[in-house]
Amino acid sequence: MKKERQTIITGIGHYLPPQVVTNFDLEKRINTSDEWIRQRTGIIERHYASEGIGSSDLGVEAAKLAIKDAGIDVAEIDFIIAATLSPDHYFPGIGVLIGAKLGLPGIGALDVRNQCSGFIYGLSVADQYIRSGTYQKILLVAAEVQSSNLDTSDEGRDMAVLFGDGAGAVILEPNSENDGRGILTTKLFADGHYASELWMEKPSPKDRPTFSPLLLEEKRFFPRMNGRNVFKHAVEKMPQAVFAALDEVGLTIDDVDHLIPHQANDRISLMVAQKLKIPVEKVIRNIQHVGNTTAASIPIALDEAVKEGRIKKGDIVVLTAFGSGFTWASAILRW
Ligand code: UT7
Repeated sequence: MKKERQTIITGIGHYLPPQVVTNFDLEKRINTSDEWIRQRTGIIERHYASEGIGSSDLGVEAAKLAIKDAGIDVAEIDFIIAATLSPDHYFPGIGVLIGAKLGLPGIGALDVRNQCSGFIYGLSVADQYIRSGTYQKILLVAAEVQSSNLDTSDEGRDMAVLFGDGAGAVILEPNSENDGRGILTTKLFADGHYASELWMEKPSPKDRPTFSPLLLEEKRFFPRMNGRNVFKHAVEKMPQAVFAALDEVGLTIDDVDHLIPHQANDRISLMVAQKLKIPVEKVIRNIQHVGNTTAASIPIALDEAVKEGRIKKGDIVVLTAFGSGFTWASAILRW
């Protein structure tokens, strides 16, 4: 009987734009303090893209590194999945732009709109395509430019200090070695009842006209969040998603070598670890120097940990995310 193919990450890369913005820099633009940001979020600095640079540009840089890491030729990629909440344009999505910039016209490009959970949602889609034999080499990119649309007034300062720009990318292929490494499972969840708890409400085609002076006046084009409620759900839902994934593959928390939670807020990551009863040394945390990069946060953290030699071949790596939608998700990889 033909054994089902297992999907493996064969290449990974990330890219952060060069401009570093510290909490002290933000103190000059926002009514905030380094002390508040560190205490409430763990963040020390983040990267901002410069004018004219979009999430597709950051995504292409991360993609090139992932392609190199996989040791494949760019022309071998047969499908693109791109996750972002900050596309270069209202439409089209960034998947097609990344394809064009990589010189890959003609292959399919799918955009995933699942915000902080976008990378795991994309991973899940890619896994199904590889397992079914539909595609052989998928490029999954997660990229964000959020720094250009932050409300720096007191009304928006809770969010404005959190976000950073960046991109991460992976190449997914069937595991030709059949050694049990790769994606063991992905679990996806959503509850749209909470959509308005964390969203960018406008512009909306429901408004006629969509763009009006009122839009600018009301400032509803800025991302808004009910931070405390999001926090509360994040620390509940991520552990639930992790347990659901572990149960499915017959592993326990003791089998986990590394946990990579979406880097939303370091306090959230630590609380998730506490709820899972996983030692903090096993939790990968890089929010200190990248901030919250939404869909890109997990692949950036994963790549850093791999390149530092912290994640080794055969390790069990658990990913989990929570964000706007609400959406939440988990994945288990044997690296
Ligand atoms: O990635 C997607 C998912 N996102 C998340 O998971 C984020 C979840 N939420 C959070 O991380 C936290 O709610 C925040 C970091 C956003 C906010 O922290 P908080 O401890 O929930 O603060 P808060 O919004 O309840 O505000 C506490 C106080 C308020 O002042 P008063 O009313 O107590 O006088 C705020 O006005 O802190 C004030 N505040 C700030 N002060 C200085 C809010 N933002 C700031 C700021 N600097 N940037």
